[in-house]
Amino acid sequence: MEKFNTSEITRLIRSRRSIYPAQYSGEVIPQEIIEEILENANWAPTHKLTEPWRFTVFSGNGLKQLANSMAELYQKVTTARGTFEEKDFEKLQTKPLLASHIIAIAMKRDEKERLPEIEEIEAVACAVQNIYLTASAFGIGCYWGTGGITYFQESKELFGLDPKDKLLGFMFMGYPKGKWPNSKRKPIEDKVTWVE
Ligand SMILES: Cc1cc2nc3c(=O)[nH]c(=O)nc-3n(C[C@H](O)[C@H](O)[C@H](O)COP(=O)(O)O)c2cc1C
Repeated sequence: MEKFNTSEITRLIRSRRSIYPAQYSGEVIPQEIIEEILENANWAPTHKLTEPWRFTVFSGNGLKQLANSMAELYQKVTTARGTFEEKDFEKLQTKPLLASHIIAIAMKRDEKERLPEIEEIEAVACAVQNIYLTASAFGIGCYWGTGGITYFQESKELFGLDPKDKLLGFMFMGYPKGKWPNSKRKPIEDKVTWVE
């Protein structure tokens, strides 16, 4: 096995950030970079090799189409439920237009359900981390958003998903116009138990 520069990998993992549409410059990400990001997503771990990640990539006019479909569906579903919020409707119409690309993230359930559903969701989350890390390595900002229409049963049809599949959110992507942000984490001592 080839050796890697672990200090570079550590630096990448720790400097990966969620960067939001209002922070994007408007510059478009080249197609070959998007493809490399998706290839890396495809190498996520996957129990029984079900490879459950499915992506729909929106850019250019596709962003407008996505914004319109999301806003329209949000209005329909929340009006019926009595939970419609004008500000959320407006966000769905405008935020996507600030991104270079948006990747809708979905989990395709194994036909034979050979493993628990949670393991397929976990595999997709690993694929999303590969997206986050590869994007960061290219200096691209992105964030996994799970608001809006993400968990509406009615959203599945928009992305060609079956009832057993799950829409897991949207990766917004764009080059940041300002400084790369910092974040913080509580120490591992709070989260790790050692048994020796
Ligand atoms: C499953 C998942 C869903 C998320 N959904 C949202 C979201 O809907 N809105 C949002 O602002 N951030 C969302 N985030 C991003 C987190 O807010 C972000 O990871 C957190 O603030 C830590 O910042 P960092 O990613 O820069 O380290 C989500 C992250 C994960 C893992």
